[in-house]
Amino acid sequence: MRKSFVITAAVAALVGLLSAGAWLSLSMAMHGFSARAEPSRIERSLAAYARSAAMPASAKALRNPVPSSPDVLREAMVHFADHCAVCHANNGNGQTMFGGGMYPRPPDLRLAKTQDMTDGELFYIVENGIRMSGMPAFGGGGSTDDSWKLVHFIRHLPRLTPAEESQMEALNPKSPDEIREEQEEEQFLNGGDSSAGNAVKHYTKGHNQ
Ligand code: HEC
Repeated sequence: MRKSFVITAAVAALVGLLSAGAWLSLSMAMHGFSARAEPSRIERSLAAYARSAAMPASAKALRNPVPSSPDVLREAMVHFADHCAVCHANNGNGQTMFGGGMYPRPPDLRLAKTQDMTDGELFYIVENGIRMSGMPAFGGGGSTDDSWKLVHFIRHLPRLTPAEESQMEALNPKSPDEIREEQEEEQFLNGGDSSAGNAVKHYTKGHNQ
């Protein structure tokens, strides 16, 4: 009795896997592997289900051990502008060049789908990334405080002010060409000397610094 149940379950799992594989190959054959397409509704719900099932219940229940304060928010804002905005945009809406070419796209972090997650879930995603998506894992470098601070900042995103957004623009990583252009502009406007010191400073900044 027990043995036949195990066999039925194994066959059902195999059939499930084969159908998922067949569906994936068929969809690839029909639509190609371009990341420019939008994920279909089935893919989105399968991915959301898999992610929620794979998230340990203990992670969901974690509380943010770092108290929020203006300094903590400021630090996390600088961090987000440097490490996250390239895909998520400074205001979290995900409308960036990189984000637009990803499959799946980075979601708008200000909306309920993200904001309804627990602090523990957001922390777990920042620390561990999301497999088979462009979302990298940022943990593993020792202290987890930076990721908890980022959780506070993600909560702050729906209330980000235009002034904060423009402060972030100044902190976004820049290509050597952009740095040169800015220097030239500055020199032109000042009619004199300018230094690249500020513009390149954030290149040397690591996640845990
Ligand atoms: C290289 C691009 C990239 C970078 C850099 C990046 N992300 Fe992401 N992120 C993504 C993508 C793509 C997703 C969507 C993944 C998915 O839906 O499976 C995502 C998803 C997320 C989510 C889950 C949101 C949700 O509603 O599902 C959070 C939270 C998040 N990112 C936070 C961050 C933070 C904080 C940083 C910086 C420390 C960061 N990301 C850096 C690409 C990126």
